[in-house]
Amino acid sequence: MNGEHAGGADREQAVTDEVLASFGGTVDPRLREVMRSLVRHLHAFAREVRLSEREWEAAIEFLTRAGHITDERRQEFILLSDVLGLSMLTVAINEPAVPGATEATVFGPFFVDGAPEIPLGGDIARGAAGTPCHVSGQVRSTDGSPIAGARVDVWEADEDGFYDVQYSGDRSAGRGRLRSGADGEYRFWSVLPAPYPIPHDGPVGDLLAAAGRGPMRPAHLHFKVTAPGYRTLITHIFVAGDPYLGCDAVFGVKDGLVVEAEHHPAGTAPDGSRQAAAWTAMTFDLVLVPDGAG
Ligand code: BEZ
Ligand code: FE
Repeated sequence: MNGEHAGGADREQAVTDEVLASFGGTVDPRLREVMRSLVRHLHAFAREVRLSEREWEAAIEFLTRAGHITDERRQEFILLSDVLGLSMLTVAINEPAVPGATEATVFGPFFVDGAPEIPLGGDIARGAAGTPCHVSGQVRSTDGSPIAGARVDVWEADEDGFYDVQYSGDRSAGRGRLRSGADGEYRFWSVLPAPYPIPHDGPVGDLLAAAGRGPMRPAHLHFKVTAPGYRTLITHIFVAGDPYLGCDAVFGVKDGLVVEAEHHPAGTAPDGSRQAAAWTAMTFDLVLVPDGAG
């Protein structure tokens, strides 16, 4: 400190230095690194925007509301991470693009572990409303070899834009798990995905509104694919032509994940099933990265 009264900038820096020093003795080196970096960036942010006490209170209020609205069905902090792009940045850091591999995207809050098992070619809709959609492709490695027996979890919203878990009761629809066949092939029936808003009746929705941002996500179907010896793939397919592809509220769209949906009139589908009404089809290969590669 220079002189008896430190200047404003010196006093501010003294606070930061004291807090940094307080974490200096953290035994876990990774926790020490993360916390010291967090303090440096958080303090720099407060200094940069000249954070007022009223704004600090508003931030605490916002986080308090996020905590109160969060329960086992609603996770406002994940939503916050999603709309701030932190979720997709974390995907980008941890799942760098590997040539030829299917790209990863945001996980979202609507995965349910232990969804119903369905046979190859079965129907995951199980009552979810929408236009029938046949989804098929091959699970394979970046070296081109088919991956038999891969576990493929799929989940999606219905045509009204709601996941089963957003309805009251313990409804299970629009989700399922299957295994790829001997040549890595997978196929199932579902419904054509529809665009929908992320939950926006809480503080995150208020933030989007204040920023003039919309809550919509383009129509998509979620995949989680696991196979021994391969990195787990968490991704979506998006429906080509969706009006929200350029403004996904959670920044999850990647060009390689956008798929044309074919539209067919009522009739017999290639799997021999008789479709009484118009139906659709999407084809997408799921290419996994071997452990230790890329
Ligand atoms: C979803 O796609 O399910 C989702 C992702 C991020 C936030 C909300 C929903
Ligand atoms: Fe989704």
